[in-house]
Amino acid sequence: MPLIGFTSPKGGVGKTTLAANVAALLAARGHEVLALDLDPQNALQIHLGRPLRDEDGFMAGLGSGAGWRESLRRTPYGVSLLPHGAEEPRRVLGISHLLMERPETLVDPVREMLADPDRIIILDSAPGPSPAMSALLPMLDLCVMVLLADGGSASLISQVSSGHFLGRGTLAARALERSLLVLNQVDLGSPLSEAVLGCAQAALGGRLAGVVAHDNAVSEALADRRLPVEVPGSRAADDLALLAETLLARLGWPAPKAATSQSVLTD
Ligand SMILES: Nc1ncnc2c1ncn2[C@@H]1O[C@H](COP(=O)(O)OP(=O)(O)OP(=O)(O)O)[C@@H](O)[C@H]1O
Ligand SMILES: [Mg+2]
Repeated sequence: MPLIGFTSPKGGVGKTTLAANVAALLAARGHEVLALDLDPQNALQIHLGRPLRDEDGFMAGLGSGAGWRESLRRTPYGVSLLPHGAEEPRRVLGISHLLMERPETLVDPVREMLADPDRIIILDSAPGPSPAMSALLPMLDLCVMVLLADGGSASLISQVSSGHFLGRGTLAARALERSLLVLNQVDLGSPLSEAVLGCAQAALGGRLAGVVAHDNAVSEALADRRLPVEVPGSRAADDLALLAETLLARLGWPAPKAATSQSVLTD
């Protein structure tokens, strides 16, 4: 425990960037971190410094009978990673179908991962609703919803604040209680950005948990196979560090006993 999910009704808003950087920052503080990629784009491994040629993954192998530990990968950031795996479109649809019919295929192994009391699990998800995120939604300790400070995202603030995006019913209402918004790519010099930030503050109040500056160093770092938090002087890096601290504080999560990063991988 705990389980932190990054999600959004919108694509390209920074879910993977935020998930990867928060995972690396928590691992650097000595927490045991497991990152799980639920998105068939299989991009989390790129952010976390894994070789692109590795096409295997946990989600791609769902239903095959393989244990989740078989898909674990070490990353240079001390984060243990379960990549999604690269899959052709028919198989991706097959996995979605499997999860709608038998959500326990995913829920059971994640429950096993959560059995370690010191482990923090970070989920990255595909944009919009997905069978994988729906299956895990009731288990989330924090549901971090991400939007951009632009016009396209502004229209989705009400969906996020009302919980409409998370679905209907008691389980969705419970997930809403545990949900936060992070506004990414905020440019304080831009009137539009300021206006969207104002809307988000008005709609979400204290549930607006973080703001990350628009910073070209973020996309440049990715092209360079580094994390923004490794780039000296990056404006976004400060915001990402603050976000990682905020998430731990919201969880009331204690500092790790040993100040060294660990891995869930066993040699
Ligand atoms: N704060 C930022 N400043 C500048 N660029 C950013 C910032 N955050 C993310 N980006 C860039 O925005 C793009 C989209 O980011 P990312 O892939 O993390 O979004 P996503 O929500 O995971 O996308 P998808 O919905 O496709 O999974 C990337 O090129 C990333 O480098
Ligand atoms: Mg992504």
